[in-house]
Amino acid sequence: MLGNFSYCNPTRLHFGENALNNLSGELAKYGKKIMLVYGGGSIKKSGLYDDIIKILKEAGKEVFEDPGVMPNPTVKKLYEGCKIAKENNVDFILAVGGGSVCDYSKAVSVSAWCNEDPWDKYYLRMEEPDNRIIPVGCVLTMVGTGSEMNGGSVITNHESKLKIGHVFGDEVFPKFAILNPKLTYTLPKYQMTAGFFDIMSHILEQYFSGTDDNTSDYIMEGLMNSLIHSSRIAVKDPENYEARSNIMWIATWALNTLVAMGKTTDWMVHMIGQSVGAYTDATHGMTLAAVSLPYYRHIMPYGLDKFKRFAVNVWKVDTANKTDEEIALEGLKAMETWMKDIGLVMNIRELGVTEDMLDGIADGSFIMTGGYKTLDHKEIVEILKESM
Ligand code: NZQ
Ligand code: ZN
Repeated sequence: MLGNFSYCNPTRLHFGENALNNLSGELAKYGKKIMLVYGGGSIKKSGLYDDIIKILKEAGKEVFEDPGVMPNPTVKKLYEGCKIAKENNVDFILAVGGGSVCDYSKAVSVSAWCNEDPWDKYYLRMEEPDNRIIPVGCVLTMVGTGSEMNGGSVITNHESKLKIGHVFGDEVFPKFAILNPKLTYTLPKYQMTAGFFDIMSHILEQYFSGTDDNTSDYIMEGLMNSLIHSSRIAVKDPENYEARSNIMWIATWALNTLVAMGKTTDWMVHMIGQSVGAYTDATHGMTLAAVSLPYYRHIMPYGLDKFKRFAVNVWKVDTANKTDEEIALEGLKAMETWMKDIGLVMNIRELGVTEDMLDGIADGSFIMTGGYKTLDHKEIVEILKESM
């Protein structure tokens, strides 16, 4: 049964090949001082940087640049961004890049005017902002996180070896997001496919929870069917607009809060994957890919009906003369084949994990209770061993 909820998604999306034409209209709603946040240089290489600067100049904006946001943005970088935002009293933060740039921009947005240490307040104590929030908008260049239409902001602290996400409320969601699938064509294949699995994982985290008849589960099965189909096309033909645009749209729906309404969710793969990320700085989607199958095989007996449904509705497993367990396992096997076909990293050793890290990674994995089995430390270590 659907639980009770309030739903609002305040982000306006502009989707398609000409989506960037909407940027100046959106920025007209805000003041003159724009903080332009971007990553390690891909937008300069692709020419997008020049296009954005031209739009900003024509709109009469004063631009304050904050380049060099790294994948898995760090708390150290966050402090730098806060300084730029505060010293220049910026009116708006324009994030141009992937999930890291968007997440980081949201973190700066709530932290620049915060009188306390933002890491302690937002990431350790999980408090909500009670200070000025600088509005954020995104031009997305990498598909996967859903950060363009959610309040999520994941920050890594290398000193304490913790990678933590805070899911902020409506007021921190991007005011708008520009989604042009063609801007993702320049992504290296590794990043592209990591993003595909991030999308899949977001859906699985919300699907493998609860036993009720819930419309969100049907929506998620549709999203997964579309993702599996389009991802197979995109890995062979990365400039296939139909496939890349479908995937961009799936990514947004996978984590813009809609499919979580009225249902319970799991998120344990992300907790383990993020902890792997804190130790290795590996690409987010690959950390999830490397731990997913051992995790799902471990919890399958506790949610067998859902795993059977997954096998049938998503992977079209033939059920004739098979036990529920055989059907469910065949579903996971089909997912494994798809993962290998699209070229994902299937073990954490390849991401830089060594045996001596396993205990620490398990310690850094926050335990979630919404899935089919609440894990203890020992079980996480077992799953990590299986993922080696
Ligand atoms: O830095 P640049 O030079 O731009 O290069 C980036 C980066 O190296 C490159 N890239 C991005 N767009 C490109 C491109 N290269 C060529 N052409 C383009 N069009 O790709 C690399 C990865 O970018 P990044 O932004 O790090 O990837 P992603 O979008 O996967 O974001 C990952 C971060 O988001 C967090 C992750 O934990 C990680 O820190 N997440 C955020 C979530 C949220 N807000 O809800 C949820 C997710 O589960 C996730 O945890
Ligand atoms: Zn993710």
